[in-house]
Amino acid sequence: MAIDSMLQRQVMGRFATGVTLLTTRFDEGVLGMTANAVMSLSLEPPLVVVSVDKKNSMHECVMRGKCFALNMLRADQEEISRRFAISGPKDFSGLRLTAAETGAPILVDAIAYVDCKLVEILPGGDHDMFVGEPIAGEVREGEPLIFFGGEYR
Ligand SMILES: Cc1cc2nc3c(=O)[nH]c(=O)nc-3n(C[C@H](O)[C@H](O)[C@H](O)COP(=O)(O)O)c2cc1C
Repeated sequence: MAIDSMLQRQVMGRFATGVTLLTTRFDEGVLGMTANAVMSLSLEPPLVVVSVDKKNSMHECVMRGKCFALNMLRADQEEISRRFAISGPKDFSGLRLTAAETGAPILVDAIAYVDCKLVEILPGGDHDMFVGEPIAGEVREGEPLIFFGGEYR
């Protein structure tokens, strides 16, 4: 029998991760969402994955825009993570933003970003895994924001 979801949260919460601001661009505009279910899937060909809850507005927006960017947050960007982890309209005010290839917002002050074309959608229960082909990216200096045991480190 499967373990309950609370125990799964606690166990997987012991797996320390970085934190990203997942962004997308679609017809009506742009959207951002905090995400840590992120993985480098393949190098040949280059592929990355982000897992998104089907209930989140980000899910429909990535499906529409067929692109996404992952911005790896810096240690002092906890406020950005909190701001984009709240359901509903997202506030990009005060952020230094640019765009790369797809038009998804790129955070100038993040420690790295990867800008992707959506190439596949893999089903996973109440989430879908969006597989992206990176078409632009950059690495910058700085320490990462860490998420562990449900807290920022
Ligand atoms: C540290 C952290 C990581 C998160 N990672 C994910 C994730 O990988 N996938 C996901 O669907 N939601 C994730 N969430 C939850 C979303 O950020 C949250 O549900 C958000 O409010 C969704 O907004 P939306 O419904 O407007 O798209 C995470 C939240 C936090 C605080």
